[in-house]
Amino acid sequence: MAGAYILGIESSCDETAASVVYAGGKVVSNVVFSQIAAHQPYGGVVPELASREHLKAIVPVVRKALADAGHTYQSIDAVAVTQGPGLAGALLVGIGYAKALAFALDKPLIAVNHIEGHIHAVLLEERQKNNHEMNFPILALVVSGGHTHLYLAEPREKHWSYRSIGHTRDDAAGEAFDKVAKLLGLGYPGGPIIDKLSTHGDPGAVNFPPSQLKHRDRRDIKKRDVKARDTSGRPEEPRFDFSYSGIKTAVLRYVEVHDMRASIEARRNAIALIEKPKLEDYLLHSDRKTLNLVASFQRAVVGDLVTKTLAAARACNVATLFVTGGVAANNELRQRFEHDAAMEGLPVYFPSRPLSTDNAAMIAAAAYPKFLAGDFAAVDFSAEAGMVLGEAAISN
Ligand code: KG4
Ligand code: ZN
Repeated sequence: MAGAYILGIESSCDETAASVVYAGGKVVSNVVFSQIAAHQPYGGVVPELASREHLKAIVPVVRKALADAGHTYQSIDAVAVTQGPGLAGALLVGIGYAKALAFALDKPLIAVNHIEGHIHAVLLEERQKNNHEMNFPILALVVSGGHTHLYLAEPREKHWSYRSIGHTRDDAAGEAFDKVAKLLGLGYPGGPIIDKLSTHGDPGAVNFPPSQLKHRDRRDIKKRDVKARDTSGRPEEPRFDFSYSGIKTAVLRYVEVHDMRASIEARRNAIALIEKPKLEDYLLHSDRKTLNLVASFQRAVVGDLVTKTLAAARACNVATLFVTGGVAANNELRQRFEHDAAMEGLPVYFPSRPLSTDNAAMIAAAAYPKFLAGDFAAVDFSAEAGMVLGEAAISN
């Protein structure tokens, strides 16, 4: 059956989300219940708390997604749910509910990889804009709180193929934004706050050399013999790995060397007293040194993401670039990619900001090709916290 209405359910981290998407190309409803308020006092996501919040939210969120779409449980064609990667307990809430729903309604159930979902968020919105002119292969940078991944993606006969050509060797880029914000007393999540504050600081004030953005095991692709073979005899492909734990440590060292502890504690306490702090509140409690540090940190991370992604795009001769995941909401990252990719004549696409961060429309969209191919989940499938997408080009 073509042109199906798929109900997507997402619960891999701290958003309980449900959405109805038509034929992988039209968002009919999109409901996201964010747990940020519950996790904020802890400065990060608390897994046990996330599971409990999902349990509370899942039924009303799904009901609202169906009501907003003008659908009933019976009138949808399939149920899709995130299988992984993510927090096991959080994933299980969505999976348990989706299984029960599909079983009770006698509808097909489709399991989706969360990272695949982020890639399909872009495809969904381009189809929605009537852009059917996409060229392949696509290089997708999936950059969020849990992931910094480079994938080569292209449609095959009945399914999409994904090949990993790089990933972070330690922290994800979003995780670095969150940890640096926490360290500087700027609350959680850090990405949106650092994004806004950065325009008020000097991005050239603090130097973060490239060596701080390099994993010590990272193979230098320039120095490698391109004719080298992997164990299966295939030519080795270059990898484009990332590393963001070093820059986090460099920020911590800068804070210590410049005696910023007391002012950070004062800001942390002042912000904690404000129910919904706004940009003006953060600015009021941030001195120039902090604003410069934040802007320099963002400039360094954005520069690294853009440089490595474009190097990978060149090496793999891709036709199109996608930048997706929570960090793709970042203004400087978007501007820099738009500018630098244009210089190379490479079209670059981002999801709209609501579909950059976690949502269920992307899960319903990624499920559509599987629906058409009859690729349904077995009744006994379960959460896969460390689920991998596609094949790796070469293993590490
Ligand atoms: O995709 P997402 O909602 O969840 C994961 O799959 O991880 O991404 C959340 C991450 C958080 O680390 C958050 O700080 C970051 O995305 N983020 C941003 C921005 N908005 C969200 N990072 C930088 N700039 C932003 N504007
Ligand atoms: Zn995500």
